[in-house]
Amino acid sequence: MSILITGGAGYIGSHTCAELLNSGEDIVALDNFSNSSPDVIRRVKEISGRDFPLYAVDMLHEQGLRRVFEREDIEAVIHFAGYKAVGESVRMPLEYYNNNVAGSLTLFGVMRDYGCKKLVFSSSATVYGHSKEAPFREDTPLSAINPYGATKLMIEDILRDLYTSAPEWRISLLRYFNPIGAHPSGELGEEPSGIPNNLFPYISRVAQGKLERLYVFGDDYETPDGTCVRDYIHVCDLAEGHLAALRHIRGNTGAEAVNLGTGNGYSVFEALRAFENASGLTIPYEVTVRRQGDSAVMYADTTKAKALLGWSASRGLDEMCRDQWKYAGRNGDRL
Ligand code: NAD
Ligand code: UFG
Repeated sequence: MSILITGGAGYIGSHTCAELLNSGEDIVALDNFSNSSPDVIRRVKEISGRDFPLYAVDMLHEQGLRRVFEREDIEAVIHFAGYKAVGESVRMPLEYYNNNVAGSLTLFGVMRDYGCKKLVFSSSATVYGHSKEAPFREDTPLSAINPYGATKLMIEDILRDLYTSAPEWRISLLRYFNPIGAHPSGELGEEPSGIPNNLFPYISRVAQGKLERLYVFGDDYETPDGTCVRDYIHVCDLAEGHLAALRHIRGNTGAEAVNLGTGNGYSVFEALRAFENASGLTIPYEVTVRRQGDSAVMYADTTKAKALLGWSASRGLDEMCRDQWKYAGRNGDRL
């Protein structure tokens, strides 16, 4: 039987495909390439030395999804497909609710029809909203502060209701903190189109000489150096977390939310210095006003991930920066 990876050509999906293949799992990838390219799948096959079916299907297209379940023997789904840009979600809420929520509903309905009731879902630490209680535990109160966050919260609620209605479901709701870095081969990484919104993709573009300087959004927060603190996690650690979640749901029913973070918080200035050390470059920056909607401090309580999944992140910020720069340095034309 195979694991269906929706959004398999995306940043986290492609690393998870590689991780599953290397651990001996059979996979099937599905993507509509709205934010990725089929060449990523070619690179996953090259790195892993294994072949697997790829479906160029939009998850909103129910017949297309049914065709996949008809042709393939799907044991479980790891569901990454969706839109993920916070600012864009504020400008285009209907597109976000449609793609993320309606798309997920279509997928869950088809899974149910084919008796496939194992699911690992990409949630986000954004569901903790503006909670001030860092480190965030899974029982921290949840709220949505933008349409993107609302889609994650809604899908979590839908999945909890689904489990209540049919307790044979095995669902893992993985709340990622800030994934960065790239595959150590230098072949897989994040490829945002246009000017990046997130810190590390932006720093990478400055390092490549494609953007002039980093704008640091505020140095007047109540943090040790005044800049925001985040829990950056290597994308390969995150991929390993998905394998651990898959193994967990094979043995357990439920709809459990689990944080995937390192439990360590780093400020923007610390992140910048770590990247400079890894690359040997000086990154010009300028402090500017706060970005609307940013929380001062976000990092994970990782107790539940360790206890439930037997997983914890092992890679530090230096390794994240090294792999981020290796990818950006080798793939300048792609970014
Ligand atoms: P990504 O954009 O690189 O990957 C998502 C993939 O899904 C893309 O390849 C895209 O083409 C595909 N896709 C989108 N809509 C689709 C549809 N309707 N049908 C089929 N394919 C579709 O994003 P990512 O960083 O790999 O994120 C993966 C998941 O993790 C997303 O659900 C995202 O919300 C969540 N997440 C990401 C972060 C982060 O910082 N990267 C943080 C928390 C949660
Ligand atoms: N930052 C800058 N300059 C930039 C970009 C970011 O100073 O050009 C700062 C931000 O103010 C923030 C930190 O760098 O303090 C990290 O910002 P990111 O945009 O990289 O990440 P966020 O924590 O804002 O958001 C990310 C994802 C969201 C997700 C959230 C929680 O983008 O989708 O983590 O998981 F919801």
